Amino acid sequence: MKIHSYNNYKNNFAFGTTGRYYKNSNGDEFGTNSWLFREDLDWKQLAEYENKNFRNKTKVNIVQFASSDGSEAYTKIISLLENLPENDTEKFFPIKAYDIDEEVVNAARSGFINTCLSDRIKLQMNSDNYEKYFTPSNKTLDIKDDIKLQRPKTFKAGDILTKRVSFERADMYNILSSLNDRSDTILMCRNVLGYFENEKVEKFVKIVSNKLKQGSLFIIGEHDTINSFIDKYLKENKFLKILKNVYRKT
Ligand SMILES: C[S@@+](CC[C@H](N)C(=O)[O-])C[C@H]1O[C@@H](n2cnc3c(N)ncnc32)[C@H](O)[C@@H]1O
Repeated sequence: MKIHSYNNYKNNFAFGTTGRYYKNSNGDEFGTNSWLFREDLDWKQLAEYENKNFRNKTKVNIVQFASSDGSEAYTKIISLLENLPENDTEKFFPIKAYDIDEEVVNAARSGFINTCLSDRIKLQMNSDNYEKYFTPSNKTLDIKDDIKLQRPKTFKAGDILTKRVSFERADMYNILSSLNDRSDTILMCRNVLGYFENEKVEKFVKIVSNKLKQGSLFIIGEHDTINSFIDKYLKENKFLKILKNVYRKT
């Protein structure tokens, strides 16, 4: 397990919706760092690509591993709703989101989310009117051992978001083993594999490659590409890079 990356995060990250540090049952340290419209994807371009790629499908399954406090799921929903024709969006929902950490899963399930100034700026930049999605709340959302945000505001996610996603506590390995793809899956597994040793990343990629059929998408994050050889492993295992951090099974 690579510890160095967490220490870097700990010292540098003072923004985002969450950044809680905890040790799992093996003693490995994890961070829940996440934020809205994380810049390691072009969310608009991705939504448009997905619409084109799955145009012949009546249902598309978005499965999200390492979903943290829900900021990534909310970003995905907003970017699909904002960028696709209304008739094309519903087949992508509900998103099935999983994280192994009970604290962040409970936070996500509460429907509340902590935001800092940069989250709110990005919401403004990426939606016509973000009050459609979130309303300010006086509630304090406490996540154990979380970072202190700059200029925090807690938001309540509206039905428009919560009805389009389910949050469940689960180990991504277990969900992956029972995944049944029919060339209709978008598997988001972002900014978690980079914390593992390369050997484990390569094994995970091989399992994903066996599970996903031609045309399905596998989406990773910048933290994964910086800290592992994941791009090489994906290309060696029948994935074609389509966009930054987005791969299509061939
Ligand atoms: C750095 S966060 C990434 C959050 C989000 N995907 C993003 O990119 O903004 C990593 C998350 O992975 C979760 N995680 C770690 N191991 C996991 C596992 N085996 N199964 C599911 N989630 C896991 C952690 O609890 C943490 O919330």
